[in-house]
Amino acid sequence: MWTMGKPIPIEEPRGKLGVLLPGMGAVATTFIAGVEAVRRGIGQPIGSLTQMGTIRLGKRTEKRVPAIREFVPLAALDDLVFGGWDIRSDNCYDIAMQGGVLEPALLGQLRGFLEGIRPWPAVFDQNYVRRLDGPHVKRGQNKAELAQMLVEDIERFRVSTGVSRMVMVWCGSTEIYLQPQEVHQTLENFECGLKENHPAIAPSMVYSYAALQSGVPFANGAPNLTVDIPALVELARQKSVPIAGKDFKTGQTLMKTIIAPGLKARLIGLSGWFSTNILGNRDGEVLDDPESFRTKEESKLSVLEHILQPDLYPELYRGFHHLVRINYYPPRGDNKEGWDNIDIFGWLGYPMQIKIDFLCRDSILAAPLVLDLVLFLDLAKRAGMRGIQEWLSFYFKSPMCASTVYPEHDLFIQLMKLKNTLRYLRGEEMITHLGLEYYD
Ligand SMILES: NC(=O)c1ccc[n+]([C@@H]2O[C@H](COP(=O)([O-])OP(=O)(O)OC[C@H]3O[C@@H](n4cnc5c(N)ncnc54)[C@H](O)[C@@H]3O)[C@@H](O)[C@H]2O)c1
Repeated sequence: MWTMGKPIPIEEPRGKLGVLLPGMGAVATTFIAGVEAVRRGIGQPIGSLTQMGTIRLGKRTEKRVPAIREFVPLAALDDLVFGGWDIRSDNCYDIAMQGGVLEPALLGQLRGFLEGIRPWPAVFDQNYVRRLDGPHVKRGQNKAELAQMLVEDIERFRVSTGVSRMVMVWCGSTEIYLQPQEVHQTLENFECGLKENHPAIAPSMVYSYAALQSGVPFANGAPNLTVDIPALVELARQKSVPIAGKDFKTGQTLMKTIIAPGLKARLIGLSGWFSTNILGNRDGEVLDDPESFRTKEESKLSVLEHILQPDLYPELYRGFHHLVRINYYPPRGDNKEGWDNIDIFGWLGYPMQIKIDFLCRDSILAAPLVLDLVLFLDLAKRAGMRGIQEWLSFYFKSPMCASTVYPEHDLFIQLMKLKNTLRYLRGEEMITHLGLEYYD
């Protein structure tokens, strides 16, 4: 039961925190290398709320604005220890060099550290990611046995590193589109499905099941259903484990959730929003498969409908056209280019246009989100929070939420929700921005 005004007891973050990453590709290695660079004082954690963000407390006249990392007890970067799985057995230095996100000069300085992290064999099935294949995979009789092998990996990691807590973040490829089915509805059905090798149980679900069984919080950085099914929400609640997802909010969708709330705030109409991207990394190659793209498309398309609420503003937003394209174009590597053409209308219906050309770097935008999710999920666990953590919607394109509400996509509402949750945990007043008291 939620009560206001009293601090929530939060266990101190004693000991090391293990970070488990299924999928050690561009995002995962950019995140790991970045954390190590920050620890050594050769880089700054730009884009990370837990490292650089502040939080206002009380009235503006009180001038209390601590750093978030001093306001809530987060694990220190020095306490993070990394492990993970991939279908390739290359170490993280080689993967990062192949990914081409970070410069060789920087990676050279981190080489020994990154070479020491080598993925464990993955639970993988090409039916779910058609453009990839790799030899570094586990073999088992059925999905229940594969889940058990992951539980053993997690336990081995815990013992060998001596970590006191762990968090898992799916940084694996986008799987094919799956709709929720009977086997996803209850934990009982799901566990039968694992034993019977049910085709609607994707590898990412096997990882999240193993994490939850091991009491490890889980976040999903890709748009796959993964932990966003009633069976696994039930398991998370049963095991008192926090979960969050789906699909890191970076690049074009980040821009959408910044701009669309602004248009709506000023009641500017929208007749169409056309978004296209070129990217040439492995993620782009995977998304070149129509079934993986469909998963991503669903995630990207839902954003505008929810922010603009056409039912409430039919004259402004009913029937707008929204198209999203992703084109795999190898020369670009991780340095994506995203174009948006936005057709809007104002006073008396007069049309106008906005053009955006965002030359971004996918993994550079995603890495700080992985860090924040690791630290906030660990905090949530120590604060006794369990199940869906909607206050972490800020980080996702397709936020998980209770079945009784619609997902909140507006970045600024999401940030307010996140910060109010931190205030709530510490027994601080919520900020309403009313501010009449300054004029009495
Ligand atoms: N970078 C971004 O801005 C961004 C934003 C939102 C979502 N994402 C998602 O994050 C994920 C990672 O992106 P990336 O750019 O690092 O991709 P990537 O292709 O570089 O890395 C993904 C890795 O996952 C591995 N993999 C696939 N299936 C696996 C399995 N079952 N078990 C273990 N490993 C598996 C692949 O071999 C690969 O090394 C993708 O799903 C992507 O769609 C990325």
